[in-house]
Amino acid sequence: MTDQAPASPGMTTEPAPPTPPAVAERPVLDGAGLDLLFREARTHYGWQDRPVPEAKLEEMYNLLRMGPTSANCSPARFVFIRTAEGKARLKQVLSPGNIEKTMKAPVVCIVAHDQAFYDKLGFLFPGAELRGWYADNPALSDATALRNGTLQGAYLIMAARAVGLDVAPMSGFDNYQLDNLFFAGTRWKSNFLVALGYGEAAALPPRNPRLSFDEACRFE
Ligand SMILES: Cc1cc2nc3c(=O)[nH]c(=O)nc-3n(C[C@H](O)[C@H](O)[C@H](O)COP(=O)(O)O)c2cc1C
Repeated sequence: MTDQAPASPGMTTEPAPPTPPAVAERPVLDGAGLDLLFREARTHYGWQDRPVPEAKLEEMYNLLRMGPTSANCSPARFVFIRTAEGKARLKQVLSPGNIEKTMKAPVVCIVAHDQAFYDKLGFLFPGAELRGWYADNPALSDATALRNGTLQGAYLIMAARAVGLDVAPMSGFDNYQLDNLFFAGTRWKSNFLVALGYGEAAALPPRNPRLSFDEACRFE
């Protein structure tokens, strides 16, 4: 038995609704990729005695530079400290708790930004004549350099992980003193440091918790 009235004789049946066009599936990272970038990635404090080739840092940069910045302004500048002399200079400005782990890292990157980033906008964002818009407004250009330079520092962290490196970001140092030691006479300003290398997993403390979706997000 059915509630549906039987079709009367001669009644034509409804045509089937059109099939929606197939939506092409986008490629997504597999579980191993998500583990590498996020789920298993940790901030490292102990380092293997394994050098980081220059080509690896270039590979990392060539990925991170593709991350978006406002008007493609790309204000971040990166200084890779590898020598004993460079590390000795850096050591003077580190907070005491950061000295040992930083000195042992094969490479330490100063994530900085160029406050005169707008000088390169003719190349980076051609045809829009944006230079004056920033150059004539230091409050806007400084905020733009810091915001986008910070984003590029985050892209560096993810790009490093994508090419198989481990990272330890650090803000425990004296920015003013660092700028005097490394960037005197320029418009470059330090933001934070990222130690780079191959981490010693055995030296890791347990992972701290993160906020749940409901705690950190809401819909409007
Ligand atoms: C911008 C920034 C600054 C940080 N500064 C320091 C620091 O000065 N010293 C330190 O030991 N860890 C520092 N950390 C490391 C964080 O405490 C660590 O990344 C966080 O607890 C997450 O750890 P996990 O990646 O192992 O889960 C910093 C991290 C970031 C992103």
